[in-house]
Amino acid sequence: MPVPAEVRELSIYEDVTEIRHAIAAARRDGKRIGVVPTMGALHAGHLSLIEAARAECEFVVVTIFVNPTQFGPQEDLSRYPRPIAADVDECRRLGVDAVFHPQAETIYPSDFKTFVNVEDLSNKWEGAFRPGHFRGVATVVLKLFTIVQPDVAYFGQKDFQQQLIIKRMCRDLNVPVELRVCPIVRDTDGLALSSRNVYLSPSERNSSLVLSRSLLFGEKELHAPEANITAIVKVMREMVGSEKGVTLEYLIIADPNTLEEITEPQRQMVLLVAARVGTTRLIDNVLVLLPHLAEHSRIE
Ligand code: PAF
Repeated sequence: MPVPAEVRELSIYEDVTEIRHAIAAARRDGKRIGVVPTMGALHAGHLSLIEAARAECEFVVVTIFVNPTQFGPQEDLSRYPRPIAADVDECRRLGVDAVFHPQAETIYPSDFKTFVNVEDLSNKWEGAFRPGHFRGVATVVLKLFTIVQPDVAYFGQKDFQQQLIIKRMCRDLNVPVELRVCPIVRDTDGLALSSRNVYLSPSERNSSLVLSRSLLFGEKELHAPEANITAIVKVMREMVGSEKGVTLEYLIIADPNTLEEITEPQRQMVLLVAARVGTTRLIDNVLVLLPHLAEHSRIE
């Protein structure tokens, strides 16, 4: 029977050996280990991942590490929010068993030389605008997996390309971790939750709603008989591109397994958008299923 959150004890670890011992003890007790990898600044999106882990696993680990290798030189590494005390409180409230909050030198000693690169998938869309980003993500996620050795790991659909790359890495490298991808959590006005939303001024926040609005439009149009992808994408790009203070980076309709752009509707599609709102970079996506179409591709 699950132990209620209020009687669970949260432990915080910075050290790899210590967290490994705690997890090994939990595994010896027959507990299923779930991990939620995060960079902290936890919001309701993260909390939904923790709740999913809590529902399926007897021992839940949340990792909080602002991973320097996934930030480009011009990106927001130094100003990325780090409200660690509030994050720990949230973890305690949700009945997390262990928080792993290592120092950067613990993960990347000064002579660190080994990186993971998931080829091709890492270079398109997000990868094209953020060179090296997915190399940093894949490397740190594999490290976190080898430290925690979870049975199950939880990621958000919001980082659509990220979850695809992590799935491919696990498949290619025989990493024995089950991956769960949980739905995007949105504010009531439609904005997808992100730790970076705190950077938005009230007027930028208002402008940023064009992202979810355009996705909603695209999703609706794709359900229409004889939907024309090229025409839909054109209108969506115009919507985003004409919003004050918003600079569109990419907006595509793609196959959700390969992220190749498509020109004809298919059973499963993903609409992906990335834009800058002022100086803040935001991404969003929506998955569309047209069940009446034949199976071209499958989301695993
Ligand atoms: O999605 C994130 O927060 C990060 O990219 C992750 C997976 C924790 C790796 O640093």
